[in-house]
Amino acid sequence: MIRFDNVSKRYENGYEALGQLNLSIAEGEMCFLTGHSGAGKSTLLKLIMRMETASQGQVFIKGQNLSRMSNSQVPYLRRNIGVVFQNHQLLFDRSVFDNVALPLLIEGADPIDIGRRVRAALDKVGLLKKEKLNPITLSGGEQQRVGIARAVVNKPPLLLADEPTGNLDPQLSSEIMHLFEEFNEVGVTVVIASHDLSLIARMGHRVITLSDGHLVNDGSTL
Ligand SMILES: Nc1ncnc2c1ncn2[C@@H]1O[C@H](COP(=O)(O)OP(=O)(O)O)[C@@H](O)[C@H]1O
Ligand SMILES: [Mg+2]
Repeated sequence: MIRFDNVSKRYENGYEALGQLNLSIAEGEMCFLTGHSGAGKSTLLKLIMRMETASQGQVFIKGQNLSRMSNSQVPYLRRNIGVVFQNHQLLFDRSVFDNVALPLLIEGADPIDIGRRVRAALDKVGLLKKEKLNPITLSGGEQQRVGIARAVVNKPPLLLADEPTGNLDPQLSSEIMHLFEEFNEVGVTVVIASHDLSLIARMGHRVITLSDGHLVNDGSTL
């Protein structure tokens, strides 16, 4: 599903955020990406969704070489990738329903389908009863679940999350992680960047550890 072949990423200011990274993540896998602040976790996720491009080496997503991909193809790549951010990036001038519907509106889904698909996603995260509310009235954990519903509403085969539990207490954090596991159990490939080592250790999935842009550990334990 994801392959990094000798990938380096140097930002415009000359800083090398990732150096000669080799990595592959299989379809249907669930794994964590960890490492100190500034290790390169977010950069790696940005390369996968082509928010950034590699300075050297190749990134392949489902066999497609992202450095050979034209900008006009990027929206098609993104449809295959659901993304969850720490600060969830919800729109507070519209309802929970409308926030979750956004990716479907962008891809021009049939309006009849939209209601059904949004409600299915909200049901999955346990927020069906809150569809009419403004997300600003929800708790932090609920807001994060709206962000997850929005990320999965168009059933992407790949789900990326960048510090999805960063602002949540331990109980809510594990609930959110179990939600990701449920998506993984139905075949979604899941990659979660997190520095919450105790939570990651408890989950028992593959852990990829970066340090200063280099892969320093890749295994089933920390
Ligand atoms: N747009 C950018 N321009 C220059 N340097 C950047 C940029 N984005 C990130 N960096 C630097 O790259 C390094 C890795 O950042 P990042 O991938 O965000 O790490 P992490 O997510 O592990 O905290 C950091 O030193 C950061 O300051
Ligand atoms: Mg980061």
